[in-house]
Amino acid sequence: MKTTALTAAALLLATATAKPLSGSQPEKRDADPSAVAILETIVPTSKSCSGGEFSDECATAAQAAPPLLASFHKYGLVTQSEQAALISYMAYETAGFKYVRNHFPAPGRPGQGTRSMMMPNFVQEFAATLQPAISNPDPAALLDDVIDAGADWEAASWYYTTKCTDEVKEGVKSGSKDGWKKYITDCVETTLDEGENSREAYWTRAAKALNLSGD
Ligand SMILES: *[C@@H]1O[C@H](CO)[C@@H](O)[C@H](O)[C@H]1NC(C)=O
Repeated sequence: MKTTALTAAALLLATATAKPLSGSQPEKRDADPSAVAILETIVPTSKSCSGGEFSDECATAAQAAPPLLASFHKYGLVTQSEQAALISYMAYETAGFKYVRNHFPAPGRPGQGTRSMMMPNFVQEFAATLQPAISNPDPAALLDDVIDAGADWEAASWYYTTKCTDEVKEGVKSGSKDGWKKYITDCVETTLDEGENSREAYWTRAAKALNLSGD
């Protein structure tokens, strides 16, 4: 298990100063340069947000790092293997942190989003756990409220913590590729893929950047 405190702490603690997420804007906090470099390695397109459709939703690695690390801190996800699984998952779901709302196929599913593109029913369940709790009968408005509260970056950590079985978590923590695959198929409940910009490509880069064996 990859729990070496020093390296995990180096990634985690530099910026995750246990500040509550709610209400704070990601851009207003300083990003730790080493965490940003690691994110840019995993998500090469996240160096810039210029151009592109929905560019107001896009976040660079520098913008992503502080709230991402704060979410890992909040949920106690201190192993590099868990961080690799979650970062690669979020990067895939958002095409490299470009979106926070579901847009495809157009016009997208109202209320589906966050930085892990959660379905509206999970967004609702997650929003109710926030401090202060957020509720809204309209799914699209609820998602907007969650994003405004700065909680979009912690949805993946919440989902992993509350929805994955202990067996899946043990597999993820082992850092093995099979453990990661089980997380995708058995907890996220979706399919694996290969090739450029695939789930596997993101995870393989994450495993390398976070010093997992990669197999
Ligand atoms: C990965 O290992 C290298 C070499 O030991 C080390 O310099 C680097 O800080 C480690 N990275 C992480 C994220 O732990």
